[in-house]
Amino acid sequence: MTRPPEPPSPGPGAPGAAPDSLEARAVAAQRRSYAPYSKFRVGAAVRISVEVFEGANIENASYGLTVCAERTALFAAVNSGAHRLEAIAVCTDASPPSSPCGACRQVLLEFAPDPAAVTVTAVNPRGERRSWTLAELIPDGFSGRELP
Ligand code: THU
Repeated sequence: MTRPPEPPSPGPGAPGAAPDSLEARAVAAQRRSYAPYSKFRVGAAVRISVEVFEGANIENASYGLTVCAERTALFAAVNSGAHRLEAIAVCTDASPPSSPCGACRQVLLEFAPDPAAVTVTAVNPRGERRSWTLAELIPDGFSGRELP
């Protein structure tokens, strides 16, 4: 049985998509994924304090030491002094596009002055796209304001 073709949807590789868009930067970052164990290749791009930083997932033979693409990108930004998260795009080969894991949602929240204003977009190289706000992905998250 053959499945009907997917309807066309605009995406990072689609004609008209800005080559320097956050989604396109996440697609580019995916090429640097180091995922020999899971084979699940992830790229991310964050817009933060007006600048854009890219990251990819970096795995380790000691599996628990793996760092997700979202945190690689965010930590590169913070290490450059950028702290105000505006948006993030994530590229995987999954269909539908895969959203950030819970640990990354919490780490993103740390640098989001207004989580309802942070757009999180998940894409794949076929041009499929899903998006949320960070507030939708981590409602009532631990903000740190609870700390003494
Ligand atoms: N991964 C990410 O990079 N981001 C996510 O949000 C989910 C998971 C990576 C970690 C690991 O290298 C691989 O995907 C499989 O879990």
